[in-house]
Amino acid sequence: MATDKITVLVTGGCGFIGSHIVEALVKKGYKARILDNLSTGKLENIAAIPSEDIEVLLGDVTDHATVETAIQGCEYVFHEAAIASVPISVNDPVGTDKINYGATLNVLEAARKYGVRRVVFAGSAAVYGDEPTLPKRESMPTNPITPYGVDKLASELMGHCYNRTFGVEFVCLRYFNVFGRRQDPSSPYSGVISIFCDRLVQGVAPVIFGDGQQSRDFVYVSDVVAANLLVMEHPDAAGRTFNVGRGKATSLLDIAHLLNDLTGHSLQPIHKEPRPGDIRHSIADNTALTALGWLPKVTIRDGLAELIEAIQIAA
Ligand code: UD1
Repeated sequence: MATDKITVLVTGGCGFIGSHIVEALVKKGYKARILDNLSTGKLENIAAIPSEDIEVLLGDVTDHATVETAIQGCEYVFHEAAIASVPISVNDPVGTDKINYGATLNVLEAARKYGVRRVVFAGSAAVYGDEPTLPKRESMPTNPITPYGVDKLASELMGHCYNRTFGVEFVCLRYFNVFGRRQDPSSPYSGVISIFCDRLVQGVAPVIFGDGQQSRDFVYVSDVVAANLLVMEHPDAAGRTFNVGRGKATSLLDIAHLLNDLTGHSLQPIHKEPRPGDIRHSIADNTALTALGWLPKVTIRDGLAELIEAIQIAA
């Protein structure tokens, strides 16, 4: 059946953040096309979305022809597909680079060829590296210390190059520590909150690497989705990079405490040696994004409560 809905491509649309973006796009009346190879994404993440509003292409973002097929007819692209694991990038910099940088270039080139209006890219706070100055501002020097961070920065730079040189509008969102439903807790390097919650529902105490005073700017996935949808069409967003964090740091001890409080447990964290290479604190200056109208709505406590409820329902 013919449709006059605008089609939006979401690479990695079966993954943690991508599937939430797809859901929000469909709710807003767009048609979402997903390109995903299901390496970490899952079809069950999009199972609740009405099938007439989505198209799923199972394929690889590293394959140029596949990306060209996927992008044709799309006005916007959210490029979320990536190897999200820093340790994998350290163990296999060449293989990871093909996905975390090479695929971005594929997407940009296909966007240029097929006249996509705007590409929104899933960047990372990893581009700041371990330089201790806080909060992180977008204008600060970047100094990534892992292949993952370097690929994210190279992708940003190439995106801005396509914006200036070829007129493909490009926006980079530097995600801080995103948490929420569908974040996979299965690897030791998954987001700490997903790991803690997974253990908690099994009644197992969290393991904290170090003293637990280290802090992160945790941001709930629905606020990250709102940032994506805001910069998708905002006239002042093109050609720019934005931090996506609440601008507040929460320590791991506080997270463990909140989780006990929300569930009635009194699990005492088990402390182990600090993780090599860990940064101590991370916090975003989000002035640039809030000036566009973004307002993070979900507190850490409310986000944790929603997440625990979702995990308990699924269990
Ligand atoms: C996060 C990103 C990473 C990015 C980096 C840059 C995630 C999952 N990772 O890493 O992609 O490069 O920001 O800023 O968002 N911890 C525990 N116990 C656990 C697991 C973790 O104590 O079971 C600790 C870690 O040692 C660390 C903190 O929790 O101190 C956060 O860890 P993690 O969720 O992996 O995120 P980042 O290290 O901040």
